[in-house]
Amino acid sequence: MGLEKSLQKWQIAFFGDKGTDYSGKRVTIFDTTLRDGEQTPGVSFTLEQKISIARQLSDLGVDVIEAGFPASSEGEADTVKRICEEGIRPKVCGLARAVKSDVDSCIDTGVDMVHVFIPTSKIQRENTIRKTHAQVLDITGDIVSYAKENFGQVMFSPMDATRTDIKELIEVCRTADAAGADIINIPDTVGVCIPSAMKPLIAAIRENVKCGIDVHCHNDFGLATANTVAAVEGGADQVQVTVNGIGERAGNADIAQTVMIMKSVLGIETGICTEKLVETSRLVSRYSQIAVPPIQPVVGENAFSHESGIHSHGIISNPSTFEPGVMTPEMVGHKRRLKLGKHVGKHAVRQMLEDAGIKTDDEQLDMIILRIKEISGRGKKVTESDLFEISDSITGIHPASKTIVLDDISIFTGNHAIPTASVKAVVRGNKMVCSKTGDGPVDAAMKALLAIAPGHVDLKTYQVEAISGGSEALGCVTIEVEDPKGRIFDASASNSDIVIASAEAMVNALNVVYRADEPGR
Ligand code: KIV
Ligand code: ZN
Repeated sequence: MGLEKSLQKWQIAFFGDKGTDYSGKRVTIFDTTLRDGEQTPGVSFTLEQKISIARQLSDLGVDVIEAGFPASSEGEADTVKRICEEGIRPKVCGLARAVKSDVDSCIDTGVDMVHVFIPTSKIQRENTIRKTHAQVLDITGDIVSYAKENFGQVMFSPMDATRTDIKELIEVCRTADAAGADIINIPDTVGVCIPSAMKPLIAAIRENVKCGIDVHCHNDFGLATANTVAAVEGGADQVQVTVNGIGERAGNADIAQTVMIMKSVLGIETGICTEKLVETSRLVSRYSQIAVPPIQPVVGENAFSHESGIHSHGIISNPSTFEPGVMTPEMVGHKRRLKLGKHVGKHAVRQMLEDAGIKTDDEQLDMIILRIKEISGRGKKVTESDLFEISDSITGIHPASKTIVLDDISIFTGNHAIPTASVKAVVRGNKMVCSKTGDGPVDAAMKALLAIAPGHVDLKTYQVEAISGGSEALGCVTIEVEDPKGRIFDASASNSDIVIASAEAMVNALNVVYRADEPGR
């Protein structure tokens, strides 16, 4: 199809081919968490964190890791080199502007492939590199040929492609293709594209180049993932994503969402071990210090949590009633949870109590639900630990004793000291003492308590909220722990001393674990 028709196709927005059969199609995953992801304002990974993320991405099954921009600093170049030396399975790629010295910096690091970019939109051409379209064409041809002399794999990006005149964009892409680019990446640099335009845009490029096509979408209007999927529908062979969607400004397309849409909705293979998506998200959240919102699709805490009575009832009888079905929590390394709150219903509460061996009659159950709704109506979270306290007070049946009773906790910390926590507790009737060091006093206290807790229990999540305004604020700590059977329980505690609130929340959570293990105690 000629250029005219390609242009027309892109300009006409049209509905997606709902019936397309993608079976047998494999899209490669290019992860740029360590490059564009690290460009997130406020994010800076240490060398060790970058290596650990690279290893995790390798285990996750990505095809390419963009490890950094070697020409940007000596430190960056060293880090990229170190990642190359790890000998991980994915290809390692380095970013370069369209200048030979940047490509040389990539050569020096030992990366497997180079990603060369040049601005092509009028606004970026004229205001950043101050070049005409004709000059950009010359530079593109020269730099791609030079890169190809030095690398087996060269990717070329016309930066700000979606704001580039379509005729000029196709000319640049044809030039890069003719100069030997193995793959052309189409960046939606400022996130202005919409899926109905992205699909024909990629289809138009497809008709004009022989090489592979990649897409790199930013999330300024919340469409990064949708545009990435549309690009695949238009014929893209590769997608650029980041873990948790981190990246410049509002970030990039999220790896978990993109991969799961491919796998579960379109039936496209990606090579990703989807069961590792949640652990990868948590690792990057910890290192980037960017919390994943609970409502984040696929990996967020609430992605498979159900609170309302109608939904929980449906989930108990068949999880596909109120979950996509084609994406289960197990597929992404998540857990399904029934949550307590203002909208909770009888079926969920009865199930949670029965799981812990607590029997109630209908009247008691109604009273328990009323109490839960009343507490959550005041804006307070209701945890499993609270549920058992409520049911004990309503049924009048209390467990003979708590497995762990915290007796004392003392903390040693300071700006030159290693934070250390010592806990004294009575565990199944025996006095126990344990000291542990940690990354901070809370971490040390959690480690000391987990060390004296019977069996193996893991801390899964930790959240702290200040209840009032000033420095005397009450800290409310909510934690989730996982027992060896993979069950997750939550508990909370409040105190003006955040370490004590954390230790009490942990003790409450541990007691819920043991109670669920020994029903009827
Ligand atoms: O957003 C963008 O255009 C980029 C390029 C370097 C591909 O990150
Ligand atoms: Zn980008």
